[in-house]
Amino acid sequence: MMNKIKDVNDFNFKNKIALVRVDFNVPIDNYGNITDDTRIKYSIPTIKKIIYDGGKIVLISHFGRPKGIPSKKYSIKFLIPILSKILKRSVQFCENCIGKYVEEKIFKLKNGDVLLLENLRFHKSEEKEDNKFSFELSKYADIYVNDAFGTSHRIHSSIITVPKLFKNKKCIGFLMKKEIYNLDKFLSKRSKKPITIILGGAKISSKINVIEKFIDFANYILIGGKMSYPFISMINNKNTDDINIKLKKSITNILYKNKKKNIIILPEDVVLSKNINNINHIKITSINSIPKKWEKLDIGPNSITNFFKIINKSKTILWNGPMGKFEIPKFSRGTMSIAKKISEITIKKNIYSIVGGGDSLYALKQQKCINNISYLSTGGGAMLEYLKNKTLPGIKIIYS
Ligand code: 3PG
Repeated sequence: MMNKIKDVNDFNFKNKIALVRVDFNVPIDNYGNITDDTRIKYSIPTIKKIIYDGGKIVLISHFGRPKGIPSKKYSIKFLIPILSKILKRSVQFCENCIGKYVEEKIFKLKNGDVLLLENLRFHKSEEKEDNKFSFELSKYADIYVNDAFGTSHRIHSSIITVPKLFKNKKCIGFLMKKEIYNLDKFLSKRSKKPITIILGGAKISSKINVIEKFIDFANYILIGGKMSYPFISMINNKNTDDINIKLKKSITNILYKNKKKNIIILPEDVVLSKNINNINHIKITSINSIPKKWEKLDIGPNSITNFFKIINKSKTILWNGPMGKFEIPKFSRGTMSIAKKISEITIKKNIYSIVGGGDSLYALKQQKCINNISYLSTGGGAMLEYLKNKTLPGIKIIYS
């Protein structure tokens, strides 16, 4: 059995400099407003613990995918007011995450001070295991804390190489602890049946393994959104040319297993559009009679009813990914109805629900029911990878 992983409670941070890797890659709207601040809120207890111990906090995070190019668009300076407000102290900022200005700022920090460094991904070295960059990031700190669950599936410097440099002076934060506790709870035998997993979104390549794993665990797997179409094409043996060989193999295996179990539920109707900007060009058809050149943009009403029937009888639910192009109101009904239904069932029947992924959290927020969900995971891809492997590279490294 693995040893217990160290967390922030195992350290006294008094007079120490803590390098805290957070995931402040929060969703923003066209005006730069944060549309969901769960990731920030969940990391506050870790920061507060270090403040109360009398330590100095250096926060590091990425934001978006600037591919090594610094820009105003991807600067994380905009987080200073919200962090200062939540922490009730003025949080400092440094325009780079390595270099002489960082050194100057860190040396001026007093116990209880918080300093946020600029976007890690303004350096290409962040997105690989770069020893030099990692050394620069780590050299002033005494203890490394990983509270960036949402990024801990990435083999990046701040997640993998930096903690290695701290030997036994590294741990996870409270956000990470909470994620591990809740996801382990979901995976454990304690999960009440029926267990339903609802998956949507476009990225089938990153989710197909999750389905392969959960076909033996879940009682129902509801698949909506873009990732459902390759399944439908394979079942009907139609339009399969665009599906790569590996994916075809996985889908074939899943469908073979499903023959006996019958746990995979796919949409039976869809909302289509010929021209996304023109409301007159919308129609609902059966999934098997989609005319050429019409785009599939949401699950249809019969599919919603079918999904509801399953959700209504579930005792454990996990949801990740939208049912369609939900950012356009005309195509948001599927996603929003699922959000509302999971929330309603959680409260009414006191079931256990987990929702993860920016889009799903945003839908819950829009429906004003985000607080009804049993557990909100701060990870999308990370949550699914954790469920698949029961750990993440960024967690494993803390044990070493
Ligand atoms: C996320 O939002 O999933 C994490 O912050 C990781 O971001 P990435 O997918 O750009 O690595």
